Amino acid sequence: MSNQANPRTIAAKILQKVIYKGESLSTALADKESPLLSDLCYGCLRWHEPLSSILNQLLSKPLKNKDKDVECLIRVGLYQIIYQKTPDHAAVSETVGALKGLKKPWAKKLLNAVLRGFLREQKTLLETIDKQETSKYAFPEWLLDEIKQAWPENWKNILEQSNQRAPMTLRVNLTHQSRTDYLQKLERAGVDASKIKGVDTAIKLNKPCPVYDLPGFKKGDVSVQDGAAQLAAILLDCKDNMRVLDACAAPGGKTGHILESAKNLDVTAVDSSESRLNRVNENLNRLGLTAKVIAADVLDTEKYAANRFFDRILLDAPCSATGVIRRHPDIKVLRRKSDIAALCSLQAKMLDALWGKLKPNGILLYATCSILPEENEQQIKAFLKRHSDAVIQGISDAQGLGRQIFPGENSMDGFYLAKLMKSEK
Ligand SMILES: C[S@@+](CC[C@H](N)C(=O)[O-])C[C@H]1O[C@@H](n2cnc3c(N)ncnc32)[C@H](O)[C@@H]1O
Repeated sequence: MSNQANPRTIAAKILQKVIYKGESLSTALADKESPLLSDLCYGCLRWHEPLSSILNQLLSKPLKNKDKDVECLIRVGLYQIIYQKTPDHAAVSETVGALKGLKKPWAKKLLNAVLRGFLREQKTLLETIDKQETSKYAFPEWLLDEIKQAWPENWKNILEQSNQRAPMTLRVNLTHQSRTDYLQKLERAGVDASKIKGVDTAIKLNKPCPVYDLPGFKKGDVSVQDGAAQLAAILLDCKDNMRVLDACAAPGGKTGHILESAKNLDVTAVDSSESRLNRVNENLNRLGLTAKVIAADVLDTEKYAANRFFDRILLDAPCSATGVIRRHPDIKVLRRKSDIAALCSLQAKMLDALWGKLKPNGILLYATCSILPEENEQQIKAFLKRHSDAVIQGISDAQGLGRQIFPGENSMDGFYLAKLMKSEK
């Protein structure tokens, strides 16, 4: 393997982009995915806090900005020793070997010294992890505090679940076959899977697999989608021939599900990101379904819905994504406390703009993949105060106005759903 292709070298460069340049992991990884590379990147970000704490104790001073790639390679080495249980000598020699690809030979001595220093003192160093909540639970302080305050009873469980790997979950296209039929197809294909209770379309795989190993994937028999996300189209409850708006639609997971849920729907899918809208088209092509796919700001309703009103609106709002950290551990590194107020204000504006586009007796479903009450229950409470014609609709397992699902609950992502009906008055 050439050094250029060494997954540890590439992981160090990707981590530098995420941790020090604010790029999302999926953008930084782009098409470079391999199982080892993904594991190194996801793992180093999942355990970013404890790794940073150990690193700070091992380095006498922080590395210069231009040398953060070396620092990230040390993170990769430590991750392999602590979490992947790579034998010590192999982890050190592989990490030092990966340095060649960074073209910084001067760092060889440093890398050896830091990793060997860790091995010498690992017992004491590992004990320090449990002494601080941020490193023990592997969460940044501000977010740990927010979650603790919001969920004093189960914050530990939320954090622990957020650090687990998420299962691969499928949505069965019920217009092609029943869930039981598809489970049988999976069994015949040797894929171990089970139903997710409470979500009629959802199946959980016991081990992830490439999508093209899934029977009928190419012809749209099945899609990859978390169980909680599948509740959005189910609760939207579309009836045949309705006009539906999927606001914030990209990459189109829920657009496809909406179109599968009833016949002859007139669906408009809007998103402000043109590049992400390409994914909506790809998804719909695979499923053989069609929608009006429009690049626009949701707030600019004239652009995509002039003189048009909808029976159903799904607002899958941009949010902190704090419910999906197990799938996107980079959120812990990228998200800032100040983002939350800005997101809440955008969500409120979106809700208000979309409400004007809903027909009387129509339903707007508000969804986020957040576990923060200010984006969820408090957001809906404030909305109901602003709109006297809005009536909350009961949904099963709702604890208040809406339903808050916690990460790992019934194998699902953290998610919030609230259903609003527009009264005729
Ligand atoms: C949670 S994601 C949507 C996921 C999608 N519903 C699905 O199921 O695949 C939120 C989306 O909101 C979009 N977005 C953010 N701000 C927007 C705005 N002002 N107008 C339209 N779309 C926006 C983002 O580009 C992103 O694709």
